[in-house]
Amino acid sequence: MNLILMGPPGAGKGTQAKRLEEAFGLVQISTGDMLRAEVKAGTPIGLQAKAIMERGDLVPDAIITAMLANRVDQPDAARGFILDGFPRTVPQAESLDAMLKEKGIQIDHVIELKVDDAALVERISGRFTCAKCGEGYHDTFKPTKQPGVCDACGSTEFTRRADDKAETVAARLAAYHRQTAPLLPFYGAQGKLKAVDGMAEMDQVTGELSALLRS
Ligand code: AP5
Repeated sequence: MNLILMGPPGAGKGTQAKRLEEAFGLVQISTGDMLRAEVKAGTPIGLQAKAIMERGDLVPDAIITAMLANRVDQPDAARGFILDGFPRTVPQAESLDAMLKEKGIQIDHVIELKVDDAALVERISGRFTCAKCGEGYHDTFKPTKQPGVCDACGSTEFTRRADDKAETVAARLAAYHRQTAPLLPFYGAQGKLKAVDGMAEMDQVTGELSALLRS
């Protein structure tokens, strides 16, 4: 099974992709995580992407589709994948369709996490991640059980994303509405689009997504 999780920045794509990855034995493929790894490693892609991401704009389609094609070719993707943050433009979706057709595989579900814009800024500005194991948290919605200590690995080092500042979040939301929202009718026309209420509590969203994938 291959699926696409869609939704604006902060909708919960990464949170839910990690949960579905475990529950369904799928692999999460996050183009945002891949780009952040390139930035951290100082690769040519990372050097090009860094300023674009910090502005809240989208990285050029050609870079992203080449990166994604390499990732989908890795052996672990053969067991099924969850695309998180890709595609984000109609040209990316068209490239994906062509790429998968060549491989003889398809996207089974495209699921939109619907969240009001007003809730997104609070979600994003409260987000932080364990610097050691990558476990995600939120100041209000998912705090660590013991203040300052990661529940998963016990580390006391945490990071916040460079693009999670309020002004950048506004630019990311604008990019979503301008460039990514047109994908909803694109996948609607293919009969693959479903929506889940992303405003609900995290476990409830996971339950609804799981029920949809099992149906
Ligand atoms: P990317 O990393 O993909 O970021 P994004 O799409 O902006 O999404 P986020 O990771 O911010 O949010 P999310 O939906 O995963 O939410 P999360 O689960 O963390 O992209 C970053 C940048 O990379 C882009 O701006 C662009 O520059 C570039 N890029 C990436 N892909 C690209 C592409 N294909 N083309 C071009 N450029 C690309 O949740 C957020 C917070 O809310 C967390 O703290 C979480 O704990 C909390 N939360 C989650 N669910 C709930 C809930 N139900 N209730 C309450 N709180 C919740």
